Amino acid sequence: MELEGTAESETGTRADVDAGAGDEVLAKAIMSRRFSPSLITTEVWEGYNFADVGIRIKESTDIYGAVLWPSALVLCYFLDTHHDEYNLLDKNVIEIGAGTGLVTIVTSLLGAVVTSTDLPDVLSNLQYNVSRNTRGRCRHVPRVTELTWGQELEERFPRVSCHFDYIMAADVVYGHPYLNELMDTFEHLCQEGTVILWAMRFRLAPENSFVERFEARFHLEELYDLPSLCIKLYRATKKRPISQLSFGAAA
Ligand SMILES: C[S@@+](CC[C@H](N)C(=O)[O-])C[C@H]1O[C@@H](n2cnc3c(N)ncnc32)[C@H](O)[C@@H]1O
Repeated sequence: MELEGTAESETGTRADVDAGAGDEVLAKAIMSRRFSPSLITTEVWEGYNFADVGIRIKESTDIYGAVLWPSALVLCYFLDTHHDEYNLLDKNVIEIGAGTGLVTIVTSLLGAVVTSTDLPDVLSNLQYNVSRNTRGRCRHVPRVTELTWGQELEERFPRVSCHFDYIMAADVVYGHPYLNELMDTFEHLCQEGTVILWAMRFRLAPENSFVERFEARFHLEELYDLPSLCIKLYRATKKRPISQLSFGAAA
């Protein structure tokens, strides 16, 4: 174990949470995975304990993707405490809107083959965090690459050759003008057998309605509901078109 820093001790075991101990116990357990540097350092970073190692994330404050958002912690906590049901070993995973890269790092540490994506401006800090936290620690070296929602999807991620077991997404729905492109991206990347794990931070009504639109296309199951953080974690799979549904043998 390489855990480090000054984290609070974890409150709420998986058993507590599974027994329905409630939002606050779970939220506290999730937030206790964060730690601050115990010494003054020249570089500003935040620490997180997941997959039995200390992870250092460098943030910058100028753009959305340069800050780590709490939804990423929620998703990482779920993955770290549900290895048995969601075993990522050798699974093909893509993260969209990866930002500073915590979800990419944790899924890589848990053994997945990860493609980490975001807008071009975000990629250098993302690559830096991913490399420094996964080098020599992971079974598969994660790949960092551009994916601008809705653009060149078939050219860059052809459906015949890119089959993902999981799509990871943390806090990708907010007041930006690319919600239709985001939906197209989920639809393109999600094929039969793909599971989407999506942590959604609820903010304003117009963007929150994305969930209803999403539900028209995907089966949606709520894994966590955390009102104190305004976050829900969803598991989703693609709905099959009516033409492919079997209604039993014809009379
Ligand atoms: C709120 S941040 C969340 C970052 C990270 N997932 C987290 O939870 O810390 C939203 C992310 O979506 C990315 N993003 C926004 N618009 C995008 C677009 N049109 N195409 C691809 N990524 C986009 C941003 O660059 C940013 O990294």
